Amino acid sequence: MSQPANPIAFHKTSVAATFGAASETYEASADVQRNVAKQLTTRILKLPLPRAPRILEIGCGTGFLTRNLIKGIPHAKWTITDISSQMLAQCRAGMGSAHDISFRVMDGEKPKFQPDECFDLICSSLAFQWFENFSGALKSLAASLAPGGHIAFATLAEDSFREWRRAHAKVGAKPSILRCLPLATIRQAFPSSGVVHVKEEHISQPYSNGYAFLKKLRQIGADMPAKGRYPSPPGTLRRVLRSFDSDPEGCMTYHIVYGVFTQN
Ligand SMILES: C[S@@+](CC[C@H](N)C(=O)[O-])C[C@H]1O[C@@H](n2cnc3c(N)ncnc32)[C@H](O)[C@@H]1O
Repeated sequence: MSQPANPIAFHKTSVAATFGAASETYEASADVQRNVAKQLTTRILKLPLPRAPRILEIGCGTGFLTRNLIKGIPHAKWTITDISSQMLAQCRAGMGSAHDISFRVMDGEKPKFQPDECFDLICSSLAFQWFENFSGALKSLAASLAPGGHIAFATLAEDSFREWRRAHAKVGAKPSILRCLPLATIRQAFPSSGVVHVKEEHISQPYSNGYAFLKKLRQIGADMPAKGRYPSPPGTLRRVLRSFDSDPEGCMTYHIVYGVFTQN
């Protein structure tokens, strides 16, 4: 297969298209994402924010985190973004018109701001794992924080999908699923200009079988292979599914990292 001229841009376009195609099926299938957005909301609502904070959300999806936060921080001025225009449209459709919100299609790791634009809070639930350069992205985002401003996010880390990788290893196949960063790398990625709090959680999500897991991934738009990987051929996939289904636990690990950075 020939390589695209710019593999990163090509991958980003595919990520946006795959999530976009799932924008109407996302909410009904995104159980883990709904739960994580709730937990991140609790953490964010404990942060010392001004009464009418300027908030930027990265990778809003259909708006789990957005809707939770709008209830808890009703006077905020919002900039809500996603790399997928269809996801952004779904999020917008779920918002009331009574709030100060602007919607933007934006790649969160190549943010484009007005020269005088800055934020009291930048938040994101389960989008940063799609970044190519996590540390560079955190630094760019931190540069647009107001003094004392926060970046609060949830992302997937290294142990995620370990049962799926094990099922591949058992049959000598290479998984194409997203590879997530180790916790230590996430910790080291923060800029040195602030205070960092990091917590991790392992969620063990039951699936009736491997096919049910793959179907959910497709329905939320997260079935995009990792950069440089291709989906397994059907015969290999059948062997992987049999291998996964022979594991009596029938669960998939989601290794969640909650990070809060507060600018000095
Ligand atoms: C798993 S969904 C999470 C959506 C939502 N935050 C939630 O908690 O349900 C990931 C979202 O991140 C978006 N996304 C992926 N890469 C992105 C990037 N580089 N910049 C902005 N959004 C991105 C996807 O389009 C998708 O809407």
